[in-house]
Amino acid sequence: MTSEPIRLGVAGLGRAFMLMLPTFRNDPRVRLVAAAAPREESRRAFEAEFGGRGHATVEGLAADPEVEAIYIATPHQMHADHVTAAAQGGKHILVDKPLAVTLEDADRMVEAADKAGVHLIVGPSHSFDAPVALAHELIKSGEFGSVRMVQALNYTDFLYRPRRPEELRTEEGGGVLFSQGVHQIDIVRLLCGGLARQVTAMTGAWDPTRPTEGAYSALMNFENGAFATLTYSGYAHFDSDTWMGNVAELGGEKPPEDYGKARRALVGLDAEAETKLKTTRTYGSGAEPPAARHHEHFGPIIVLCDRADLRLTPDGVEIFGDTERRFVEAPLGAVPRKTVIDALTAAVREDVPPPQTGRWGRASLEVCHAILRSADNGAAVDLSRQCGTTEKEEHA
Ligand SMILES: NC(=O)c1ccc[n+]([C@@H]2O[C@H](COP(=O)([O-])OP(=O)(O)OC[C@H]3O[C@@H](n4cnc5c(N)ncnc54)[C@H](O)[C@@H]3O)[C@@H](O)[C@H]2O)c1
Repeated sequence: MTSEPIRLGVAGLGRAFMLMLPTFRNDPRVRLVAAAAPREESRRAFEAEFGGRGHATVEGLAADPEVEAIYIATPHQMHADHVTAAAQGGKHILVDKPLAVTLEDADRMVEAADKAGVHLIVGPSHSFDAPVALAHELIKSGEFGSVRMVQALNYTDFLYRPRRPEELRTEEGGGVLFSQGVHQIDIVRLLCGGLARQVTAMTGAWDPTRPTEGAYSALMNFENGAFATLTYSGYAHFDSDTWMGNVAELGGEKPPEDYGKARRALVGLDAEAETKLKTTRTYGSGAEPPAARHHEHFGPIIVLCDRADLRLTPDGVEIFGDTERRFVEAPLGAVPRKTVIDALTAAVREDVPPPQTGRWGRASLEVCHAILRSADNGAAVDLSRQCGTTEKEEHA
C-alpha cells in the first residue's frame, strides 16, 4: 500500500465543497490537485490556493492524468452525468449525497462504477459522523444484543436557507427528502443493518411560497426485525439543536440570538436574489465553517437494543444499560470529517469500501422515493433495492 496522499479532483466549488474544505486542507492523506467549476473566478481562486489545475468541465477533470479520485459536489441532478464521466475516466469517486434524484440515474451510476472497476462512495452524509460510527461499532460488538427500535428526530431551518429554484421543486430533487431525509435514512439504515423492508409515511408541504416537502414522518421496518421512526421538519420554528446541548449541525455552538436568522435573511428577496445569496456561501466568499468543539450531528437519535438504549450526542454515545449508565466519548481529532477520508483511503489504497457505496446510496434513495410514494397513496411501500452494511448483503 502506498502512503502517498490521494490526488483528489473536485467537481463543484459550492457550499458542499466549503464544508469539506477544512478536511481537505488539514488531512495529509488527501491533496487537492484539480477542480472543475463553470465560473472562471472559482477556478482561479482554486488554482491560487492549491496550485492545481482548474477545468471548465467535469469531463476535462475526469481526463486529467494527475487526478486519482474525484469528489463530486455539484447539484443533485448533475451527479449521474458527473459520476459517469469520472468513472469513464477511471477515477475513484466520492459523490456527495444524495447519490442521484432518480433510481434510474442511480442504476446508471452503480453500473458505470462497476464497469470501470472504480470505487463509488456516497458521502459525506451524517452516517459518517463519529458518534454514529461509534454507535455502529458498539452495536456490532454484540454487547447490547439486537437493535429493536430507533427514533430519529430533527427540527431545523433547512427550507429557509438560501436555495436555487430547483431546490424547491420536488421532481428535481428539491425539498427535505433528497437533501436532508437521506442523511437520516443513511444513519438509521446503518444502525439497523441496512436492509429495510417497508416504509409507511406522511409528508407536509405547508408553505405555498416554498412549494415542496418541508416535513415528514416515516415508519420503517427491517429484515432483522428492527423498526424505526424518522421525523423531520425544516420549517424553521422549533430547533431540536436545543435538545443537543445547543450544538449546531456542524458541531459549533448555536448562539440563541441566531433564532429566526434564516427566515429573516430571505425577507424581500425574489428567486434570483435568493440564488445570488446562496452563492455568497460558496468558495472564494470567505464564509467558511468555524472550527467546532463537537462532532457534527443530525438531531436526537436513540437506539433501543435488548440490553441497553444508546443515545447519540455530539460528543459520543450515552449508554443506558440494565443497571448502569455510562458515556463513551468519540474523540475529537484535529481534522473534521476524518471518517470520510478514512473511508476514501481504505477504498482507494486498500480496496476496502465503506458501507456507504453506490449500492448503499441507491438503497437510501429508494427509501426517499418510498416516503414520497407512501405519503401520496396512503399505503405501505415495499422496498426491493436495499443492501446491508457490507458489500455482499443485498436483497435477493
Ligand atoms: N454533505 C453536506 O454537508 C452537504 C452540504 C451541502 C450540500 N451538499 C450536497 O452537495 C451538492 C451541491 O450542493 P450545494 O449546496 O453545494 O450547491 P451549490 O449551488 O452551493 O454548489 C454547486 C456548485 O456546482 C457548480 N456547478 C454547477 N454545474 C457544474 C458543472 N457542470 N461542473 C462543475 N461544477 C458545476 C456550481 O457552480 C456550484 O458552485 C448537493 O448534491 C447537496 O446535496 C452536501
